[in-house]
Amino acid sequence: MATPRTMRAVQYDKYGGGAEGLKHVEVPVPSPKKGEVLLKMEAASINPIDWKIQKGMLRPFLPGKFPFTPVGDLAGEVVELGSGSRPVACAVQSGGGLAEYAVAPASLTVARPPEVSAVEGACLPAAGGSALQLLKLAGVSFDGTSGATGPKNALVTAASGGVGHYAVQLAKLAGLHVTATCGARNVDFVRGLGADEVLDYGTPEGAALRSPSSRRYDAVANCAAGVPWPALKAVLADDGGTVADVTPGVGAALTSILQKVTFAKKRLAPLMLAPRREEMEWLVGLARQGKLRTTVDSRYPLSRAQEAWAKSMEGHATGKIVVEMGGAE
Ligand SMILES: NC(=O)c1ccc[n+]([C@@H]2O[C@H](COP(=O)([O-])OP(=O)(O)OC[C@H]3O[C@@H](n4cnc5c(N)ncnc54)[C@H](OP(=O)(O)O)[C@@H]3O)[C@@H](O)[C@H]2O)c1
Repeated sequence: MATPRTMRAVQYDKYGGGAEGLKHVEVPVPSPKKGEVLLKMEAASINPIDWKIQKGMLRPFLPGKFPFTPVGDLAGEVVELGSGSRPVACAVQSGGGLAEYAVAPASLTVARPPEVSAVEGACLPAAGGSALQLLKLAGVSFDGTSGATGPKNALVTAASGGVGHYAVQLAKLAGLHVTATCGARNVDFVRGLGADEVLDYGTPEGAALRSPSSRRYDAVANCAAGVPWPALKAVLADDGGTVADVTPGVGAALTSILQKVTFAKKRLAPLMLAPRREEMEWLVGLARQGKLRTTVDSRYPLSRAQEAWAKSMEGHATGKIVVEMGGAE
C-alpha cells in the first residue's frame, strides 16, 4: 500500500505541560533523509527521558524544535529504502515515535526476528541498552569471564523498572549473584526475573541496600533516582567496586573524576546512554532465544498516548509502558 501524505501524531509545542501538553494532530508523513529509514510504526515505548525532555531538562539541545513528536524507542516496518523488513530502532535524538510513521537513523536500526514481537522490540533499545551499558561500566563482562576475574556480587536498584528488570536478567546471564531492590508489591516479580535476594526499599534493610546474606557488592547498577553516593559507597566491597549510575545527581561527574585521579577503589561512574547498534542486535538476539524477557506494565493505543505519558511520569511502572499504533481503542 502506498504511503499516505499525512498521518496521526501526538506532539507538544512548548516545554512543560505533562500529559495535558500532548496534542493529537494530523501532520505530513516525515521524509527520510540520507542515512534514515521511514518506518510504518507498530509500537513505541515510553522512557522517563521522553517526559524529562518535555520538562526542559535537556534544553537547549532537545527537542531541536517545536512542535515535537516525542519518543525514541521504535518498532515498525520499513516502508522506504527497504524490503518490508520489521526492525527495532532507537531515535533518542529525533524522537518521532508517537505517530503512525517515523524516521529513524539506519545506523541504529536492527532487524526484528519474528520471535520478538513489535512490543518487545520497542521496549529494548533505551532500557535494555542502558542496563547493558550500566553493567559493562561496573566491570561486568558477557564473554563468560566475569565469574573468574570480574565482579561477583551485583546490586541492582529499582529492579522492577524498565532498566532494572533488564539489568537483573543480564547480571544473572553474566553469572553474578544478584541482590535487587524494589517496592513490596514487586518482590515476587523481581525474584522471578532471577534475583537471588530481593530487598523492599520501604524497609530499613532495603533503604540501607543491605544484603540479607551480608554480601558487599563489587558491581552496582543504580537505576533508582536520589540514592546518595555515601549510601552506595557503604555497601561496596572493601577491596573495591563500581557503582554505575544511570540517575546521577548534581556533582556525580566531579566525584567520579576525583576518584579517578586519586585511584580510589570505590568508584562512582555516571552513565549517559550512547545507543550502539551491535548492542541492540545482541539484546534482540537474547530476546529471540528467550533469554531476555520483557515485562510490559501497560499498553495504550495512540489515541490514549496521554495516559501512557502520565503513567510513566508517576514513576511506578513494573517493566515497560508501550503505545501500540494498531492497538485496540
Ligand atoms: N542516563 C541515561 O542515559 C538513562 C537511560 C535510561 C534511564 N535513565 C533513568 O534511569 C531511571 C530508571 O529508568 P526506568 O526506565 O527504569 O524508570 P521506570 O521504569 O519509570 O522505573 C520505575 C520503577 O522504579 C521503582 N523505584 C523507584 N524508586 C525506587 C527506589 N528508590 N528503590 C527501588 N525501586 C524504585 C518503582 O517501584 P515502585 O513503583 O514500587 O516505587 C518502579 O517499579 C530514570 O530516572 C531514567 O530517567 C537514564
